[in-house]
Amino acid sequence: MPDLSFCSPLKNRTAMAKLPIIIAPDPRLKITATPVDRVDSSVRKFMDDLLDTMYAAPGIGLAAPQVGVAKRILVIDLAQKDSPVAPLQIVNPKLIWASEELESHEEGCLSLPDQYADIKRSKSARIRYLDQQNIDRELEATGMLSACLQHEMDHLDGRLFVDHLSRLKRNMILRKLSKLDHSDGNAGHRKMSTF
Ligand code: NI
Repeated sequence: MPDLSFCSPLKNRTAMAKLPIIIAPDPRLKITATPVDRVDSSVRKFMDDLLDTMYAAPGIGLAAPQVGVAKRILVIDLAQKDSPVAPLQIVNPKLIWASEELESHEEGCLSLPDQYADIKRSKSARIRYLDQQNIDRELEATGMLSACLQHEMDHLDGRLFVDHLSRLKRNMILRKLSKLDHSDGNAGHRKMSTF
């Protein structure tokens, strides 16, 4: 029986679409996403929608579970404002190497609006993944791209950046978040480190 739960809501749509982003705490952000069998046109369409949603937010990375789709799919674009877009569309990423050397970057997340913390991760990382043409690829990332990749891959295993903090700091952020009103969408204040 094919898994239609993933593509059926996306059928028969042509224009790119913004998808609603899930805000923490929410159980859908804690699941382990399942691999994609094959990158076909419905997956490509979904990745276009993910990118559209990410650019509109604005953010530099977004993973499928953040829009309620439990599949191992993520998109990233680290191009600076005023630069041409440079999207990365990544399916079924597997970490094949990570440096012992760590580096700290300030991270935010579209599922934790306006919350930021310095997170230490491997300075460099190499992954294998399927691209939008279902072709096997490898990518070695360093610096911000490495941090962003690891952050997005965490989402596929139900981890948020606050899960790398002490329980005290994590609870502080989650408490602040629960007191915020998200309805005004103050995206203008969002920093570029939001992924
Ligand atoms: Ni995130």
